[in-house]
Amino acid sequence: MLSALSIKRPRILVILVPINLILIICLLGYINEVSVESYLRPVSVKSLTSKFDFSYLSNKTSANVDTFKQYGYQIKPKNVKFQYLNSKNKDGEPKQVLDMNTDTYEKVVQKEINEPKDYDIESIRPPENIDTYARANATIVALVRNTEITKIGRTIKRFESSFNSKFNYPYTFINDQPFSDRFKKRMAKFTKAKINFVTIPAELWDKPSSIDGERETAAMDVMKDHNIAYAKMGSYHNMCRFYLGNFYNVPELTKYKYYWRIEPDVDFYTDIKYDVFKYLEGTGKIYGFTINLYDIDESVATLWPETLRYLNSGDNYKYIDPNGAFQWLLENKQNPKKNVVTGGYSTCHFWSNFEIGDMDFFRGEAYNNWFKFLDSTGKFYYERWGDAPVHSMGLALFADRDKIHWFRDIGYNHDPYHNCPNSPNTQGCKTASFSRWNHLKDQNCMGTWIDQAMDDPDKIY
Ligand SMILES: *[C@@H]1O[C@H](CO)[C@@H](O)[C@H](O)[C@H]1NC(C)=O
Ligand SMILES: *[C@@H]1O[C@H](CO)[C@@H](O)[C@H](O)[C@H]1NC(C)=O
Repeated sequence: MLSALSIKRPRILVILVPINLILIICLLGYINEVSVESYLRPVSVKSLTSKFDFSYLSNKTSANVDTFKQYGYQIKPKNVKFQYLNSKNKDGEPKQVLDMNTDTYEKVVQKEINEPKDYDIESIRPPENIDTYARANATIVALVRNTEITKIGRTIKRFESSFNSKFNYPYTFINDQPFSDRFKKRMAKFTKAKINFVTIPAELWDKPSSIDGERETAAMDVMKDHNIAYAKMGSYHNMCRFYLGNFYNVPELTKYKYYWRIEPDVDFYTDIKYDVFKYLEGTGKIYGFTINLYDIDESVATLWPETLRYLNSGDNYKYIDPNGAFQWLLENKQNPKKNVVTGGYSTCHFWSNFEIGDMDFFRGEAYNNWFKFLDSTGKFYYERWGDAPVHSMGLALFADRDKIHWFRDIGYNHDPYHNCPNSPNTQGCKTASFSRWNHLKDQNCMGTWIDQAMDDPDKIY
């Protein structure tokens, strides 16, 4: 499978592209608008009230509290808006803000950490008898191709030694083509856990028939001219759309709640001595990540404006969680050019080649209704909306930010970025370094996450 890493490389080129060319892409996005009316209202408004607690709305909307001024958001019917408040007063040239944010990041990462302290970790240690272990409702997911046999093999080996040999969580390998016997046999050599090899049903993978081929080709050509990697590769668009809107609906995955996504050729630096799925279950958290970074702004040029259009239609405002990570989505000081191209979105996102999460969040009405709307715009093909920014935006809007967890204790590498904690269980990386390339430090959004989305890092670590 094409890894998310590869799309990051041309970033430096992308930054140099003049804004007026970027506008052409936006324009292309708006021509031939697909009818989206059917998605602008929640599919089942009646069922909403039973599932969501909207009591906060009356509190904050009726009282004299100006949430927009005070908290940077307003959640009102047909009048949803957000603004960045810069509550930590990090101002100056982008370079200066970068230094401040890097400092924030390094200070936190350099603090010694062993394991999270907001849960009784002793209760979720590896079992003495792995065969009778009552596992959480979870699977390891890898979307890979037969040709990636060597690279995914390396990942599994490292992953087994770091985590899974202590718990034997089952693997679910998924592929849009059938897996070869050679692939299956090789994978079985790396693990004692069960492996399920699944061919993704075409209807979850293929480009929807509503996509206008001519418009897609024209848009792809423009994106290619702007060095947006994989812009012209149809399968990459399919992969993104699949991972952000459909993977949790693959029949063999619907029987699980939690997943850990792995990719070819990643590395784990930490000996993980507790069951991370039970950690999520026990704390009620729904999503965990290790790396937090900026995206190619042009690839998501209209994702935020489209999302605002959606939130301002019908009753969709109700899905927004008032404790969402909005400020993180809107940060505009470290890389302000991004926000110009995207109409306000920082492009900060959780790097999705590592995800440990609760699929029920993505299956839920709030995320799914929004996904259907996004799908109806066709812009998974007319732009190149990635699975990482879409997952991240969905989480930042529709989930309580306290349920999103930075696995700061898990050392992880997907070249050229890594998470390298200062811990006795971690080996092989340079603490707090983020990337071995110094010039890539400006791609780190974690400083903003710490400032804007973590109320008190010391409580967790
Ligand atoms: C709303 O206000 C009531 C009464 O003032 C209070 O008990 C409740 O906790 C508030 N709810 C929220 C979500 O702030
Ligand atoms: C596991 O989770 C899925 C999704 O929430 C659910 O449908 C299934 O019943 C669960 N299985 C068990 C054994 O609890």
